[in-house]
Amino acid sequence: MIIRILGAGAGGGFPQWNCNCRNCAGLRQGRLTARSRTQSSIAVSSDGERWVLFNTSPDIRTQLEQFPASHPRHGIRDSGIKAIILIDSQIDHTTGLLMLRESTQPLDVYCSEMVRQDLTTGFPLFTMLSHYCGVNHHPVPLDGGAFTIPGIEDLRFHSHTLKSKAPPYSPHRHDPHDGDNIGVIIEQVSTGRRLYYAPGLGEIEPHVGAAMASADGVLVDGTFWQHDEMERAGISTKRALDMGHLPQSGAGGMIEHLQALKARRILIHINNTNPILDENSGERRILNDAGIEVAHDGLEIHL
Ligand code: MLT
Ligand code: MN
Ligand code: ZN
Repeated sequence: MIIRILGAGAGGGFPQWNCNCRNCAGLRQGRLTARSRTQSSIAVSSDGERWVLFNTSPDIRTQLEQFPASHPRHGIRDSGIKAIILIDSQIDHTTGLLMLRESTQPLDVYCSEMVRQDLTTGFPLFTMLSHYCGVNHHPVPLDGGAFTIPGIEDLRFHSHTLKSKAPPYSPHRHDPHDGDNIGVIIEQVSTGRRLYYAPGLGEIEPHVGAAMASADGVLVDGTFWQHDEMERAGISTKRALDMGHLPQSGAGGMIEHLQALKARRILIHINNTNPILDENSGERRILNDAGIEVAHDGLEIHL
């Protein structure tokens, strides 16, 4: 299985347009050893030709341009991207659907009923796209059940609900529902290799721990190092868990959970305030010592 990291940043990307935090300013001024990152998305394939896109970031046009395997090859209109899976309805994960409106066929979008509702009400992208290419919505299981995508026979997907957060414009922002956010195990049928993908994850519930333990690769929420990171930077009083993200450090944090695993472990959806973006930081050293990687745009993982 091949996993291409299209964007490893959280909402806003890195650096963020209006942010003058230590990381964003440091990167702009060349004082930081760090890479810029576009907003959260990956592509997965078993044959290197037919790809499933996970999330459609506002940066998708640039991301696909820099990803030759997605470029058109057959006929006047074509793409290596054959289907889309959305793990939530957040702006950073869905806005790119608008940039795919030139598709000559309806977009095949796999997502929960909750995400479908958000994308037809609070953020009505599906409704808007009905005036362009249209969307074929395919519901996904929330209980870990498997689904397949026609034409992508060698991959099997298992999706389950997560404790995280619906976006601010969702009708159920303050009334959590199963399917507001999902995690997905992607299994390559021919090899049995499994990736667990959950870029927005607030709590390691037992079914999440089991999915992580069953995987050969784990690509999970790397948004914040600590609970009050944005408050410390003078940016916002919102805490990590208010936004549905489990921080890395501290008791019960993401590092503790990842340390117990044998799989390759990689953090994704990194917020621009997170000190792990600075490759010389003490926080990054802690991850290195624990064998935990930090995803960057263009990284290709072969499982
Ligand atoms: C989140 O996952 O919480 C988002 O990155 C927030 C956003 O896109 O504004
Ligand atoms: Mn996000
Ligand atoms: Zn910043």
